[in-house]
Amino acid sequence: RGDPRLKAISDAITVVPNFPKPGLFSFSTEKAFVLFTWIMFQDITTLVSNHKAFKDVVDIFVDRYRDMGISVVAGIEARGFIFAPAIALAIGAKFIPLRKPGKLPGEVIMESYELEYGNDRLEMHLGAVKRGDRALVIDDLVATGGTLSAAIRLLERVGAEVVECACVIGLPEVKIPGRVRLVSLDVWSYAGWC
Ligand code: PRP
Repeated sequence: RGDPRLKAISDAITVVPNFPKPGLFSFSTEKAFVLFTWIMFQDITTLVSNHKAFKDVVDIFVDRYRDMGISVVAGIEARGFIFAPAIALAIGAKFIPLRKPGKLPGEVIMESYELEYGNDRLEMHLGAVKRGDRALVIDDLVATGGTLSAAIRLLERVGAEVVECACVIGLPEVKIPGRVRLVSLDVWSYAGWC
């Protein structure tokens, strides 16, 4: 907060209304209301093609995590993969991918989480993370916190300590399990919308 780099990072994200689906009417017969939800997709391709803005995001996280004894940076497929390896290399930690179902060739453990309609699953290679590893979880965006929560469960199941979760977009107040702290740059973009 108050970091002058955040405005430029926010400005570098493009908002795409009604993507990947049109704005939706949600009907709740139980509570008898109709809700119109605008979908405002936060497109980070314009952020990562802006060298300064991309570097500033990575630098902000590297400054925070370089002296926290992090041994593993876990990136969430797909957009967490864009940020997590750069952070892992800079702080001297190993990078591990948390993947969507059926992508990892070895033995995996998995955790499911709920989406607005249906479920999804994250998988991690057994042996990629060891008991006592200190883990940082990276994603581009947090909305409900379901994806980050599944990532935390995966890492804790194999005995890692999840030190923090960090993402670029989303509210830092979103609930995630236990005492794990969520750090978010909270840089929602409205560019192209108003
Ligand atoms: C998006 C985003 C996060 C997740 C956040 O991924 O990149 O991973 O949603 O939502 P949540 O906090 O409600 O769980 P998405 O599921 O669209 O997958 P993708 O990155 O592979 O497109």
